[in-house]
Amino acid sequence: MTEEFDAFMELFKDLPREGPGNVDSLLSVLDMAATPPDARIFDAACGSGADSELFARALPNAEILAVDRQAQFIEAAQARGIRASFKVGDMLEPDGKFDLIWSAGAVYFCGVEKALETWRKHLKPGGKIAFSEVVWLTDEPSTQAKEYWEEAYPHMVGIHQMIGRIEALGFRVISATPLGRPSWEAFYDPIKKRAEQLRGQGPVMDAVLAENDAEVAMFEACFGEYDYVVYLVEPA
Ligand SMILES: C[S@@+](CC[C@H](N)C(=O)[O-])C[C@H]1O[C@@H](n2cnc3c(N)ncnc32)[C@H](O)[C@@H]1O
Repeated sequence: MTEEFDAFMELFKDLPREGPGNVDSLLSVLDMAATPPDARIFDAACGSGADSELFARALPNAEILAVDRQAQFIEAAQARGIRASFKVGDMLEPDGKFDLIWSAGAVYFCGVEKALETWRKHLKPGGKIAFSEVVWLTDEPSTQAKEYWEEAYPHMVGIHQMIGRIEALGFRVISATPLGRPSWEAFYDPIKKRAEQLRGQGPVMDAVLAENDAEVAMFEACFGEYDYVVYLVEPA
């Protein structure tokens, strides 16, 4: 691991979640997907388990399997002490078949094609996939937003383009719902507090914090031009 990666993980230590999200979007997916009370749910790239905890509360009889490739996050998830199985693992290697495969803020690591083609084989009859992906909400983004996202996520597409890509893979899009500003604030506010505790510790950490500051500044100036959208899909 590089010193920069260690500094990044230090910034992300003890955060309630590692990306934007909210309880309403998750409950709305459970409702629209008609997820059974005793569902088998896979939380793919669960981070420190924020969404698994929401699933466990919403569906006390569900079986929740959750994996993330970072051991530090899995340890934090296990410390929640909830009824879910948290393991270090690859989100593209689920164990068995599921009523719902959920992935918040992680599909961009492998691309929607790879994710959906892999997860399709792990759905029970009637099973569904829900994932959040950051997309453009406008066809004409500002220079500031464009420059930031071209660097951070060069493959980012528009909300409707993503629907086209999902349908081309043989899936039906049941819903495509932007998360909205409060979900980003639920992610950024704790990071901003943590960043203040870590400033001045050395050049590597300061560089990581500067990148984070730039992301938050871009969010303050440009949010609304882009958002995470939760796509709920099923094989067509
Ligand atoms: C933006 S975070 C989101 C975490 C969590 N879903 C949340 O919303 O709080 C993305 C996560 O994807 C994980 N990740 C990336 N690629 C992965 C893979 N192939 N298998 C498992 N986890 C992966 C990272 O370790 C990180 O925790």
